[in-house]
Amino acid sequence: MDVEKLLQALDGLPLGPVRYFHCIGSTNEEATHWAEAGAPDLSLVVADEQTSGRGRMGRRWYTLAGAGLAFSLVMYPERTHLQDSKHCPKITSNESSLMRLTALGAVATSEALKQAYGLSADIKWPNDVLVQRRKIAGVLAEASWEGDTLKAVVLGIGVNITQKSIQPGTQLDFPATCLEVFLDKPVERVELIASILSSLLGWRNRLNTPDFILNWQDKLAFKGEWVKVIHPDNTVQVGIIRGLSAEGFLRLQLDHGETINIKGGDLHLRKL
Ligand code: BTN
Repeated sequence: MDVEKLLQALDGLPLGPVRYFHCIGSTNEEATHWAEAGAPDLSLVVADEQTSGRGRMGRRWYTLAGAGLAFSLVMYPERTHLQDSKHCPKITSNESSLMRLTALGAVATSEALKQAYGLSADIKWPNDVLVQRRKIAGVLAEASWEGDTLKAVVLGIGVNITQKSIQPGTQLDFPATCLEVFLDKPVERVELIASILSSLLGWRNRLNTPDFILNWQDKLAFKGEWVKVIHPDNTVQVGIIRGLSAEGFLRLQLDHGETINIKGGDLHLRKL
């Protein structure tokens, strides 16, 4: 990636300082160290290649040189509009804050794909961005703590662009895809990153509004479909996705009719 072009594309966005790496272990890891060392709000780490990119639930995320987008943003909860809505339930737990920021990354990526390329991208709750039911991008929000207090959140986004970016051995019910499959022109990566960040910065100021939840719900994948939720403690629940609660939890209708709120876990399509 041409760093001059990157800085030019980002010019005008109200970001903090930018660090660019041709090759790095993980932009999330770099951003976390930077946050611990006092990075300003909205500091950005971008890499062309990651050698130990991190995914959710301990998975790996591959970013080969020139093949995708990988970047991480440092955010401080008190600068992020998580708490100030008159209309939405207060976001009271650290888990909910992380979930809302994960959704912020997914909503912004989906919106940018629509604006820049006219692609409809859905969000597989809570963090995957899918085009035609295939995963094109992933979001990983990681927290830095001081005791029980959430000090900083690093929001990492990875987008598959060329065929080289498709990781071997991805889950069978959500195989991976990449942007080039859907386009007949090469992707300008610096424009895409600028477009994602522009959308993200706009929504960040409205993170705890009904508008944000509705926008997220509009993009929610598998509404009305049967899914299996694997909870962090490995218990499983099966039900039909009915949308999002006002807090952004997944509303799952169980087979005896009751609808419950799911606060975390991994979604799989239920095989019939
Ligand atoms: C997932 O789908 O499991 C989340 C993938 C998140 C990948 C991005 S790439 C940029 C940032 N740095 C990392 O190490 N991971 C995130």
